[in-house]
Amino acid sequence: MNILGIETSCDETAAAVVKDGATLLSNVVASQIDLHAAYGGVVPEVAARSHIEVMLPVVEKALTEAFSQVVSSEEGGVSQIASKTRSSLPTPDYWGLVDGIAVTAGPGLHGSLLIGTLTARTLSYTKNKPLYAINHVEAHVYAAFLHDAAPSSLPSPLSSPRFPLLALIVSGGHSQIALFRGHLDYTVLGQTRDDAAGEAFDKIAKLLGLGFPGGPAIAKAALKGNEQAFSFPKAKLGKHSLDYSFSGLKTAVLRQVQELAGLDHTAPSWELHHKLTEQQRNDLAASFQKTVVDTLVDRLEVACEAHQPKQIVLAGGVAANQALRQELRRRVPVPVLIPPPYLCTDNAAMVAALGHHYAKADQQIDPAKLVADSSLAM
Ligand code: KG4
Ligand code: ZN
Repeated sequence: MNILGIETSCDETAAAVVKDGATLLSNVVASQIDLHAAYGGVVPEVAARSHIEVMLPVVEKALTEAFSQVVSSEEGGVSQIASKTRSSLPTPDYWGLVDGIAVTAGPGLHGSLLIGTLTARTLSYTKNKPLYAINHVEAHVYAAFLHDAAPSSLPSPLSSPRFPLLALIVSGGHSQIALFRGHLDYTVLGQTRDDAAGEAFDKIAKLLGLGFPGGPAIAKAALKGNEQAFSFPKAKLGKHSLDYSFSGLKTAVLRQVQELAGLDHTAPSWELHHKLTEQQRNDLAASFQKTVVDTLVDRLEVACEAHQPKQIVLAGGVAANQALRQELRRRVPVPVLIPPPYLCTDNAAMVAALGHHYAKADQQIDPAKLVADSSLAM
């Protein structure tokens, strides 16, 4: 079964084709990072307009790559196309090979979600394909079970889902621990009460003048820093609580930066990084990253003891973080499955992979009833 996935929840326009829920036939991501970098964060209006421009070329490219057997070797299988791509060459009609369309219905930026959902609805009607409405956060987990189509990367039994499965999903908008009993059958055990882990990375990177997106910038600076240089607090929300909170940590880093800069609490945060040395910035990045990683892994350890999973999946954009990947593998006594970094950040392959299970469970949605839901809960 070949499912076309469509993803536009934030600032990546993505389409992919996945066979039988696991084999990556194509994975096209048009990143808008360059468009938003100048603003230091994602501008919703700019994101939505860019999705409109590239959506159809991205879908066409995903179909062509999947079915003309073009295997792209760039960046581990991801085809990056410039956000300005508008050309739309006539392509053979591959629609006969598509069994269904899975699209991110939420959560995310409303304007961005609208472009993906309207595109998927229209294609579902016009190409007469079943449509599946996918939760973006849940989909992140399914990136862990993907493998590419090359014979050398056939999946091992260890890379297939084994239930009960504990998932830590950490992205720019979410930090969740969920217990999966089977496909489409899960309970959220814990979540952030304020900022998501990725959001904290992005905001601290901005404070330290390290650029956007913040996660990779902090990780790079941290490599040159001393993680013991500063001691930041880990939020304690109760011995058994599996919830997270990162707002106190953010404030603690801000206060430390103000102190190092020799300025009081009224100093605008965007001016502070000019007063820091490069070594101070690296040390702050390393100490902050260590605190986030320890906090995330501490809670997962508690969840692991309580629920005895057969497997752990680490997913979402922050799962690309090497320190987090290493620390989780080091501390939990259960096999840990983590997608390669290019499948941790937003992509449509994870949406198509989850769509496969919706198709198997016959959970299609009437295209007329599909709505973009920016606060869709897991
Ligand atoms: O899953 P994702 O691509 O989008 C959302 O669903 O939000 O996650 C994006 C987040 C951003 O906050 C970004 O800074 C963070 O993932 N991120 C990282 C790394 N790469 C991306 N955080 C820490 N370390 C990284 N290497
Ligand atoms: Zn995401």
